[in-house]
Amino acid sequence: MKEINLTTKIKVYATPDEMDAADRELLREAHFAVGDSYSPYSNFKVGAALRLESGEILRGSNQENASYPLCLCAERTALGAAASLHPRSAVTVMAVTAKSPVKTIDRPISPCGACRQVLCETEMKFDRDMRVIMQGEEGEIYEFASAKDLLPLSFGAEFL
Ligand code: THU
Repeated sequence: MKEINLTTKIKVYATPDEMDAADRELLREAHFAVGDSYSPYSNFKVGAALRLESGEILRGSNQENASYPLCLCAERTALGAAASLHPRSAVTVMAVTAKSPVKTIDRPISPCGACRQVLCETEMKFDRDMRVIMQGEEGEIYEFASAKDLLPLSFGAEFL
């Protein structure tokens, strides 16, 4: 028997002021994207903003549906916009945030498992790591160097 220890490095910023200006701008865009959320069923509003290698920022927000399983997460909405508008441009960093109707979210909001898988696929597609930045409505900010850090032992094309 042997054991494998997996470690993940997370950069933690106490406030956006500690981040560099470009990431601060991206996080601000993610907070703006919350305002575009269509979430009449959960009322949980998620905003994402991604930066392309060109420097351009695209936003996404969760888009819900009366047929609940069809709800689209903010992260995948943003990635879909990028794939549609700039299909050959790598995504270098994504910021995610959320707002709840029932409580102030004061810790980083974490992409769901399905979104993590899609983030990893995007990294693979462009052979480039995508940093992932997370914040709640307020509070500490987490930064991961790669989507792969969010999905250890992930399933990928190498198994096919
Ligand atoms: N949601 C996202 O947009 N991203 C995630 O990573 C987690 C969940 C959305 C889906 C749904 O509209 C609402 O949050 C509540 O689950």
